[in-house]
Amino acid sequence: MKICMIGTGYVGLVSGACFADLGNTVWCVDKNSEKIEMLNNNQIPIFEPGIEELVNKNYSSNRLKFTTDLKLAVKNSDIIFICVGTPTLKRKGSADLKYVFQSAKEISEHINKFKIIVIKSTVPVTTGDKIEKIILRHNRKNKFEVISNPEFLREGEAIRDFRFPDRIVVGSNNKNVTKKIQSLYEPLIKKGAKFFSTNRRGAELIKYASNAFLATKISYINEIANLCEKTGVNVEDVSLGVGLDQRIGSRFLRAGPAYGGSCFPKDTQAITVTGDLFKTNLSIIKSVIKSNDKRKIILMKRVEKILSNNIKNKKIAFLGVTFKPNTDDMRQSSSLLMIPFLAKKGAKISYYDPSGEKSNFSKIKNVFFCNSIEEACNNIDLLIIHTEWEEFKALDFKKLSARKKFKIYDLRNLYSVNLMKKKGFIYYSIGR
Ligand SMILES: NC(=O)c1ccc[n+]([C@@H]2O[C@H](COP(=O)([O-])OP(=O)(O)OC[C@H]3O[C@@H](n4cnc5c(N)ncnc54)[C@H](O)[C@@H]3O)[C@@H](O)[C@H]2O)c1
Repeated sequence: MKICMIGTGYVGLVSGACFADLGNTVWCVDKNSEKIEMLNNNQIPIFEPGIEELVNKNYSSNRLKFTTDLKLAVKNSDIIFICVGTPTLKRKGSADLKYVFQSAKEISEHINKFKIIVIKSTVPVTTGDKIEKIILRHNRKNKFEVISNPEFLREGEAIRDFRFPDRIVVGSNNKNVTKKIQSLYEPLIKKGAKFFSTNRRGAELIKYASNAFLATKISYINEIANLCEKTGVNVEDVSLGVGLDQRIGSRFLRAGPAYGGSCFPKDTQAITVTGDLFKTNLSIIKSVIKSNDKRKIILMKRVEKILSNNIKNKKIAFLGVTFKPNTDDMRQSSSLLMIPFLAKKGAKISYYDPSGEKSNFSKIKNVFFCNSIEEACNNIDLLIIHTEWEEFKALDFKKLSARKKFKIYDLRNLYSVNLMKKKGFIYYSIGR
């Protein structure tokens, strides 16, 4: 099939490359010309395992094309995916739909024959109705259908998630169009992906309801971890014991820092605003947001306590600053609050992240990027393991601590409490 992805970010690039790999011809469009230039020069603007090989393979076979020319891409495609960002609208908390509406307007100006317009961006329920109106306003002559096909991939595992999704959700009010999209996904359905179709509004809401539920699970176990710390219970035993109940399931029951990333914080905010708009109080999700905000403060207080409220001039190393491993995405990472907080209190912070230096910290006094774990950990008072990258899972702390005894705060419970104790380390973790 001939496909166009509008927005070549994490979602547009990964799903565009994967669709091309299934044999389709895919135009990836972005208004960011630097991004497109990079892609046309064999450079990948995001950090995502496996994406480089996939892009190179399909680009050289001419199934994957990159352009800033939306008109060209739309004219040459039958199915157009909108994959632009839907960030939080400041002060209101709702999803900022300006990029989505702008794309809809631009598409409407170039519709030359029947097009299926698929909203892949995460958008509040009823957005499809609005997009339909925008396109009708600009283009009444030609037929088109607007449908919803929310994306569930996770950064860091995005290619695998695209190829082996738990489910593919399509929301459309037109059965023929649903069938066409189903045939696009047929290679994945054959391998076991469940295909679920509903109406357009239903699919829009499924995406938000899923993310809010996952965020709830994380916040829930984080609060239980707080209780574990006070009662001498190991939160991992609780997670296991609870998760073995098939009605609950064990995934997303790992205690850690506040949830972050480009989706959960903005999507939980946005769905509560949608709820209010439709006079429905989503009180559970509202309290999850509060609990998650509080979590960031709880962890910072814990750091203060670990350092006996004496942070000034203490050397603190962060291993990992991204919100999760295998991504360079810093959006809503808890390190964005922790590092400035500690730096403001007079700490000297060194950090190392396998995805490289972050501009987020470049203007903060006393915060330095290091090129290796060893360099970051040189002569420190406290080591904070912030993100569970593979390379932090088997550290030789003895070597790191050769010069000075330091404390370790492991926000990801990567090490055994007993073993660390036996080896004589001053080790703190979450809910244990
Ligand atoms: N990142 C994830 O893990 C993930 C997972 C599932 C769903 N989503 C959702 O998918 C959507 C996209 O997320 P993302 O992380 O890929 O965003 P992103 O910020 O990485 O990429 C969006 C891209 O769209 C481009 N863009 C904006 N307006 C445009 C226009 N008019 N024409 C062409 N290009 C335009 C931007 O330049 C940018 O490159 C969001 O709604 C997000 O909530 C994201």
